[in-house]
Amino acid sequence: MYLRHLQLGSFRNWDRVDLALGPGPTVFVGRNGEGKTNLVEAVGYLATMGSHRVSADAPLVRQGAAQAVVRAALRREDRELLVEVEINPGRANRVRVNRAPLQRPRELLGLVKSVLFAPEDLVLVRGDPGERRRFLDDLLVSRTPRLAGVRSDYDRVLKQRNALLKTARMARGDALATLDVWDGHLVDLGGQLLAARLRLVADLAPHVAGAYAGVAGSDAAVAALGYASTVPLAGDGTPIGEGTALPGAGELSAALRERVAERRGDEVDRGMTLVGPHRDDLVISLGSMPAKGFASHGESWSLALALKLGCFALLRADGDEPILVLDDVFATLDAERRAALAAVARSAEQALVTAAVLDDVPAELRGTVVQVAGGQAVPLDPATAEDGTVREEVT
Ligand SMILES: Nc1ncnc2c1ncn2[C@@H]1O[C@H](COP(=O)(O)OP(=O)(O)OP(=O)(O)O)[C@@H](O)[C@H]1O
Ligand SMILES: [Mg+2]
Repeated sequence: MYLRHLQLGSFRNWDRVDLALGPGPTVFVGRNGEGKTNLVEAVGYLATMGSHRVSADAPLVRQGAAQAVVRAALRREDRELLVEVEINPGRANRVRVNRAPLQRPRELLGLVKSVLFAPEDLVLVRGDPGERRRFLDDLLVSRTPRLAGVRSDYDRVLKQRNALLKTARMARGDALATLDVWDGHLVDLGGQLLAARLRLVADLAPHVAGAYAGVAGSDAAVAALGYASTVPLAGDGTPIGEGTALPGAGELSAALRERVAERRGDEVDRGMTLVGPHRDDLVISLGSMPAKGFASHGESWSLALALKLGCFALLRADGDEPILVLDDVFATLDAERRAALAAVARSAEQALVTAAVLDDVPAELRGTVVQVAGGQAVPLDPATAEDGTVREEVT
């Protein structure tokens, strides 16, 4: 799939931008702070209904405006879809597809398949487990949109259960009886989420290993993925491979129920839910060691890239051609990694690339260049772009 047109209104620093796009690579070039990342952040928002930079929506709305709008014409084979998202911080977002409003904004998830790689992705390797859970769940929902409901129901149940546990600490008794009801929901939804995550890790792992070998060289250590769970049956972090037997949702629910019962006392004491997929982690390892705490900076960066290229390959293997977004990443890669990434970007149906310096982007990706400056995004003619100079002003 590819975006044929992107329009933003009051999104980040953009008052309004209207941009025709085509298949193949497009490079957005411009000085620091002109709004290149903001442009591709909007594309990412269409795919995940979230930003890769912030967890709340408010910063996405242009200062002084009440709402932001992202509108895109999406080409999928010979069909065209018009997607419109109204971002209303503090209120429900509104989403329309082909001008028909969706009942729930989250019904958009899975429609726009896109994989975004940015400097922020280093946290996938070095950051807290929450970053990796979000990574897994975003990919999960992109592949299986039905799970968006399971994820948000789980979050809601978790909140309610935590609130109840807090009151249970003060006045045991009644609250504990109600807790049993919430345990049922938690265990049911948690089992589904765990099963889906395990399946995903198993499906993703070979693609990440392949991408890492492609990026770091075939003589580098092997990258592997495992799942470390608060429910022992769901995994202890050791690599999940082709032969790994994966428990089903029913078994996982039963195992979660058991753990919840065991930890009941601790949960009441601490006033929070201590077991379940919200406490788990994706374990990335390199050779025999976990990446977190052991991998060098360069290795961590290559692993982050391999995770994203693995997503790209997985979605592609599912039969969807995702839009590849590369935000400001070429400047920090060495020649070999640059070439490996350029080859993938060349093969994408559409690749949107940002850079402050055009020369940092491999020449083979510079066919279409858009200059971002002064609140405008203006396509440069290829002849000008070719030698790497960027005109100060385009008339
Ligand atoms: N909600 C907002 N309202 C207005 N301006 C904003 C908002 N959010 C961010 N900005 C501005 O957008 C600019 C940053 O844009 P962006 O991150 O897209 O830059 P960039 O072109 O990617 O730069 P770099 O090359 O440094 O990565 C900053 O100047 C910032 O102040
Ligand atoms: Mg940027």
